[in-house]
Amino acid sequence: MKLSRRQTLQLGFGAFLGAGCAHDMSQVTGLALSEPPKDFPVKGQLSLKQRAAAKGIIFGAAGNYQALTQDTDYAQVFAENCGMLVPENELKWAALRPSPDRFDFTSSDWLAQFAKQHGMLFRGHTLVWNQSNPEWLKDTTAQNAEQVLIKHIDTVVKHYAGRIHSWDVVNEAIAADWSKRDDRLHFTTQWFKLLDKNYIDIAFKAAGAADPNAMLVYNDGYLNYDTPHDNEARAAVLKLLEWLKSRNAPIHALGVQGHLDAADKRFNQKKFRDFLSEVAGMGLKILLTELDVSDRYLPADLEVRDRAVAQTYEEYLSVALDERAVIAVLTWGMSDRYTWLTNYSPRSDKLPVRVLPYGADLRRKLAWNAIARAFDAAPKR
Ligand code: XIL
Repeated sequence: MKLSRRQTLQLGFGAFLGAGCAHDMSQVTGLALSEPPKDFPVKGQLSLKQRAAAKGIIFGAAGNYQALTQDTDYAQVFAENCGMLVPENELKWAALRPSPDRFDFTSSDWLAQFAKQHGMLFRGHTLVWNQSNPEWLKDTTAQNAEQVLIKHIDTVVKHYAGRIHSWDVVNEAIAADWSKRDDRLHFTTQWFKLLDKNYIDIAFKAAGAADPNAMLVYNDGYLNYDTPHDNEARAAVLKLLEWLKSRNAPIHALGVQGHLDAADKRFNQKKFRDFLSEVAGMGLKILLTELDVSDRYLPADLEVRDRAVAQTYEEYLSVALDERAVIAVLTWGMSDRYTWLTNYSPRSDKLPVRVLPYGADLRRKLAWNAIARAFDAAPKR
């Protein structure tokens, strides 16, 4: 009998734990598939995008205008490795909409051009979010909300029609930790207050009408771990996807934000893998968006830190890439020189964080090897 990669992983995993465990993965949390060698060896010279492409997967990253325009060494590393560029902030309302009647595409257009010039796909993040909005949006009323939302989506999506791979149409609509609603929707956001849950449906329909060829994605975070919060969030996401389909909204994929923490041992391979299967079973593709691995709670020692971060990348990607509906892996940045975690999730010892494939010195770290190894081991799409 030929074992699927997943079965092999499970057996390897069970063997690692001792006999009898392989059949009950639900009890298992936070252990490696198997201990990778300490130096995470990688064969050959191919870049990350080439290794991914060999398996029918897209590899890319978030990049921002400031870093990519000012730092040519970084821009080179970025273009060498990425088959897709996601503007980190430039397509959010705060960047695009200086006033209710103006659209400013200057920095996002530069990024689209940079992507094109280097043969990268271009991806949109995000048309609706509760954050990074301009002040004037607060003046929107129940009377004009739908019109304001549709005008934004229609203009922005048409602007990039024919040059965009996919759009995160709605980002982070769920607040599983505190929303008392059955559907766990984040009900204090402005769009929810003005349009109720319908804002999500309206947004997808407006995006689909503006560009029938773009892949339309619902993107959300805190879906990775076996915690009460994440378990609720995964269930809520499945319900939201079903609801969107029942409303005939054009939705093609789920974006799973991968903001991981190397010290968090609550990753449950089976639960996460089953979740991806359920999403795939709904006929949706999956993109692993916003992948990075915080080293905030790891010891200071560089080797220990880099290994633990690399191990987290490899374990997570090995489980996720086993699902053939996963078509893209996107890290939230390429180098520790430019990562939001420097401010958002700093270390208490103030040491620079080491969370992305390249160090601040633009040298590859073990995290790069770990991602490469996961692509090399992944089944073909
Ligand atoms: C972050 C950017 O990286 C920061 O530069 C910005 O200040 C705030 O937003 N989830 C998302 C992303 O969907 O848009 C966020 O990006 C990170 C969390």
